[in-house]
Amino acid sequence: MATVRIAKLNKSYGDAAILRDIDLSVDDGEFVVLVGPSGCGKSTLLRMIAGLDGVTSGDIFIGERRVNDLEPAHRKIAMVFQSYALYPHMNVKKNMTFGLKFSGMAQPEMDRRVAEAARMLRLEPLLERRPRDLSGGQRQRVAIGRAIVREPDVFLFDEPLSNLDAALRVSTRVEIAKLHRLLGATMIYVTHDQIEAMTLADRIVVMNHGLIAQVGKPLDLYYHPANLFVAGFIGSPAMNFFDASVAAKNATAVTISGPGVAAFDAAVKNFSGPVGAKIKIGVRPEHLLAEGGSGFKIAGAVELVERLGETSYAHVRATPEVALIAEIRGRDAPNAGDPIALSAHERDLHLFDERGERIAID
Ligand SMILES: Nc1ncnc2c1ncn2[C@@H]1O[C@H](COP(=O)(O)OP(=O)(O)O)[C@@H](O)[C@H]1O
Ligand SMILES: [Mg+2]
Repeated sequence: MATVRIAKLNKSYGDAAILRDIDLSVDDGEFVVLVGPSGCGKSTLLRMIAGLDGVTSGDIFIGERRVNDLEPAHRKIAMVFQSYALYPHMNVKKNMTFGLKFSGMAQPEMDRRVAEAARMLRLEPLLERRPRDLSGGQRQRVAIGRAIVREPDVFLFDEPLSNLDAALRVSTRVEIAKLHRLLGATMIYVTHDQIEAMTLADRIVVMNHGLIAQVGKPLDLYYHPANLFVAGFIGSPAMNFFDASVAAKNATAVTISGPGVAAFDAAVKNFSGPVGAKIKIGVRPEHLLAEGGSGFKIAGAVELVERLGETSYAHVRATPEVALIAEIRGRDAPNAGDPIALSAHERDLHLFDERGERIAID
């Protein structure tokens, strides 16, 4: 087990800056998920921790050791890839022990480790099979088993579930969560899937264009996104955003209004902008209420209703330019063409300044 510390890490390919001044500390035994859109630099960061890609500048520590100049094999890490990367001509057991052989480990110790990993991952009946005779989910369990037998200080996962179908993704996700509880190992896990991030992580690192947009516990990111990017990335359907501006201001509150949005007061804490300053209001679909909210109000016409069973998504047009999605729970969803009036509690509103940074509300 070990901590991982990344300090002022930069990576460029030629003139292209891929990662910029990344600082991150991962606790011993922590499950940290790196999440962000495709191309934001998640895999590059993971591969640098693994030692598969070089560092342009900055430092990586695993435990007390600076590992920048250590070969991957000496970093005490194990990596699981989306593609499984199994040897097709070897059976499951050989695939799991292949990496250990080179370390000169004695056969009884290898057998013990394989037996233990196979039991954890329910691979015991499959040990003699070749990868081609396994399902995708079984192959990925073998790849995870191969990581476990190395007893690494740090597990690194790069989108391990992306090749699996939806049902297997859910069940394998649960397996990985249980495995983390069982092993108590430090894990760094890359995904573009915010549900995986929310369900697996002790802490989530949201990345955007080679920068860290926010680090926090899943529900902190959900309830207190630090900026517009995180607000829009976490949550499905995504948070609604409304253009607005500051209509009036006193020592403790601002009055906010915008196209389609009735003027309301908000007790903001850290807003120094002038009257007239542009603001974005964010409200999650699940926080728009057909009755009972206070402050924020918007009305419009229902254009389309997606009925999922216990919940429905109403696509609403407030003005020709302003559209939103409201989640209506239960059986009383409106129909297309219905008028609708929606509101939200102040505690469920998110405000962002012109730079996209969160404005705190009392
Ligand atoms: N070997 C390389 N040479 C040049 N650019 C690269 C190389 N590897 C990755 N990149 C670029 O770095 C960026 C980040 O890639 P990556 O870390 O794979 O993103 P992610 O895993 O978040 O989807 C992308 O724009 C990608 O094109
Ligand atoms: Mg990637």
